[in-house]
Amino acid sequence: MKAIQFDRIGGPEVMYYTDVPRPEVRPGTVLIRNQAIAVNFGDLFFTRNEYLVKPRLPDTPGMEAAGVIDAVAPDVSHLKPGTRVAYIGMGSYAEYTLIKAGRVMVLPEYLSFEEGAAFPIAVLTAWHTLHTCHHLTPGQTVIVHSAAGGVGIAAVQIAKAYGARVFGTVSKDSKKSIVRDFGADEVINYETDDFAATALRLTDGRGVDLILDAVGKPTFEKGLSCLAPFGHLVLYGRAGGAPERLDPLRLFSKGLKVSGFAVPMVYSMSEIHQRAVADVFRLSREGKLRIPVGKKFPLSEAAEAHRYLLSRESTGKLLLIP
Ligand SMILES: NC(=O)c1ccc[n+]([C@@H]2O[C@H](COP(=O)([O-])OP(=O)(O)OC[C@H]3O[C@@H](n4cnc5c(N)ncnc54)[C@H](OP(=O)(O)O)[C@@H]3O)[C@@H](O)[C@H]2O)c1
Repeated sequence: MKAIQFDRIGGPEVMYYTDVPRPEVRPGTVLIRNQAIAVNFGDLFFTRNEYLVKPRLPDTPGMEAAGVIDAVAPDVSHLKPGTRVAYIGMGSYAEYTLIKAGRVMVLPEYLSFEEGAAFPIAVLTAWHTLHTCHHLTPGQTVIVHSAAGGVGIAAVQIAKAYGARVFGTVSKDSKKSIVRDFGADEVINYETDDFAATALRLTDGRGVDLILDAVGKPTFEKGLSCLAPFGHLVLYGRAGGAPERLDPLRLFSKGLKVSGFAVPMVYSMSEIHQRAVADVFRLSREGKLRIPVGKKFPLSEAAEAHRYLLSRESTGKLLLIP
């Protein structure tokens, strides 16, 4: 089968399209024939050996996709060949991927393979930062950084569905309209405007209740300065570099809270995970949550897709089509 591999650590240039043996099912697994593969920012960290999961060279990047079950291990009784599924699991930049049965979600009829591939990591990360890390209540004000991206666009919609007032930030004016179209009340260009000053002005000086920050260094400190009393900043990424070390005394005067989140930690917490999966499918069925596909690339052009994600031009999810 065809797959993307890399045998040295580095950026997009280390990936190549090649032939590898098709995996055989092992106990507890299913083999998926991928139809659409999502590109995540974490994939860029993976090839650079900066992700939570470490590559074992030569390795295949990718952490989610949608496709059809091709084969099922004899000890897996609840899944059948031919079923349309999405999954979260490593090694998805390939025609076929072997996945633990517990990581597979049966795709509802109303989601295409492309929508299914774009869905799991982005929406579950957005959902958990809003509802598991934080307990979002109607009327709270939320800043979503990089709001035109995969996680950002999901977070904007979920926060709006739960009655929040949402300010999205983007680095280019050209991305503003998509964030507005997906429901944000205000969109701020955080490269040209001071997002913290704007948020304070828009809240009559009170500040915001929650900030979802996966940018890091350029936004973290400033974010603390525009939180409302008892406000909360969830740091779940560092696309712009790791933030400076935090002096906890900074949190005293306004009773602030800073927390972190990495979505893989919840996969094994089945009750929390299932609650999130059920709710995001409900929101999607009710037409309140949709992940737009920004651009599609052939699987062979994975390096090009990574370069595009790094360019900060992209909106929505990028997909690879095998
Ligand atoms: N903790 C978790 O479990 C988890 C799970 C999924 C994703 N994440 C994180 O969430 C963020 C979004 O992930 P995604 O896959 O949905 O990607 P994405 O948002 O579609 O793309 C990344 C966006 O990051 C922004 N960005 C800010 N500084 C950047 C820089 N120096 N270089 C490149 N991009 C920069 C860009 O938007 P603007 O320029 O408009 O800001 C870019 O479009 C990433 O930081 C990712 O690592 C974390």
